[in-house]
Parts: sequence; structure tokens; C-alpha cells
Amino acid sequence: MEVLVSQSYEEMSLTAAGMIADVLNAKPNAVLGMATGSTPLGVYKELVRLHREGRLDFAQVTTFNLDEYVGLPSTNSQSYHHFMRENFFRHVNIAPGNVYIPSGTTSNYKSFCDWYEQRIKECGGIDLQILGIGSDGHIAFNEPGSSLSSRTRLKTLAKCTIEDNARFFDRPEDVPIYAITMGVGTILEARSLLLLATGENKASAVAQMVEGPVTAMITASALQLHPSATVLLDESAASGLKMRDYYDWVMKKKPGAPPM
Ligand code: PGA
Repeated sequence: MEVLVSQSYEEMSLTAAGMIADVLNAKPNAVLGMATGSTPLGVYKELVRLHREGRLDFAQVTTFNLDEYVGLPSTNSQSYHHFMRENFFRHVNIAPGNVYIPSGTTSNYKSFCDWYEQRIKECGGIDLQILGIGSDGHIAFNEPGSSLSSRTRLKTLAKCTIEDNARFFDRPEDVPIYAITMGVGTILEARSLLLLATGENKASAVAQMVEGPVTAMITASALQLHPSATVLLDESAASGLKMRDYYDWVMKKKPGAPPM
């Protein structure tokens, strides 16, 4: 796992967008795993800017989103379908048929989840998965206790997540209680992982993810099992890390290392 601490949210977002651009430039038909939430907004803004400047082409790209609330139609302004459309997809030249987001309104969740897993495989697997982290240490909606080999399925959201998400809804009782989410096992199959975290309220979850034991209680800790995981943080999200000097040292010395 590589840990890279940026001076600000903006710098972190630019770094992440640069890494995604590198993947697309090397493989124009790459499959990207997309995340929602406040954290990746800066990354999407920068990717859109690069696209508008003619430096990034999404014509052959396929995307799979991590999760969606159960019960919200794609037209609902709090659905992740709406979030992705407004913050990213409508601003770039991605083919609508190449965009996959879990359905929050399917009549058969089991078969939808199986189909979603199958589609990821048929598209060649995810090259780069973007991730956020919940204050309870979740990745996607894999709440504490989720199996580290879980697949796409229905989850009941933890109270902590419901409270965190209440800021986006008019009334607390409007926050969905269930979600459809890629599993930890699904996420670990992506060829590389890029997790972003910003702000003091993520510091404890980040420290447990990077420096704690691998445990289903902090599903983000499963990143320790992945051969190519990068964690991008701002200063406040990194404030709970004990080995911070070491991570800075490694990143500083990396350019001088012999090529692999
Ligand atoms: P946030 O959500 O980016 O809105 O903090 C992250 C998450 O819950 O994964």
C-alpha cells in the first residue's frame, strides 16, 4: 500500500485525477470503478476539465459504480445515478451504454447482483477502482462485519452511515436504510485501487485501515491485501497515522529507485 499525503484537498484531487488520466492514456478502453460521496467531487471536476481541454477521451471507457441506495429511482436527486450524471457523465464523452450503476429499484436484487458481477467480468474486470472511506471504515457500503470476500449484494446501512448521509436529505427519515453494493471481494479483484480521504472525521478510520489489523470490522483494511493500492490523503485525514514520516520518506525516495 502506498500512502501519499497532500497539502490540501485540491492537491489530492489533482494527484488522483493525474493517476486516472495516466491509466486512460495507457489504455483508452480502460474499465474504471467509480465512487460517489463528497470526497471524489474534486477528482471528477479535474477529469472534466482535462476532457474539455481535449486532453482526456472517454469514448472507449467503461465504468462500474460501487453502489446505489435501495428504493431511490435514478431520477431522484439523491440517487447515485443522479450524482454521477450531474457531476461527471453529462460533462464527458462517455457512451451511455458503457455506464453501469447498481439499480436501486430492480424487482429482483439477487439476479441483478449476479448480473452486475457477470458484466464486470465480461468487460475484462476493473482496471482502476476509485474509493472513499466511511467514518466507520467502510468501502462502498461494506459496513462493519461485511465478509472480506463478499460480492455485490444488498446491505443494511449502519446507523453511523445513515447519520453521515443525512446531510444530503431534507429529513432524517428520508435517508435510505438499504443499499446495493459491490462486495469487498469484488473490489479486491480490481487491478489497482485508489482510495481518497479528506478531513479530520476520517482520521481514525484511515489510521485503522492503514496501520490496524485486517478486519471485517474496518472493511477498508482489506486494502492491505491488495498488491496495488494507493491511499491519497489530505493533512487532516492523515493526522492519526503513526508511521507518517516513513510514508513521506518512501514517496520522496521513490523517483530514485531502480526501475522494476
Ligand atoms: P464521503 O463518503 O466521500 O461523502 O465522505 C465516503 C464514503 O462513505 O465512502
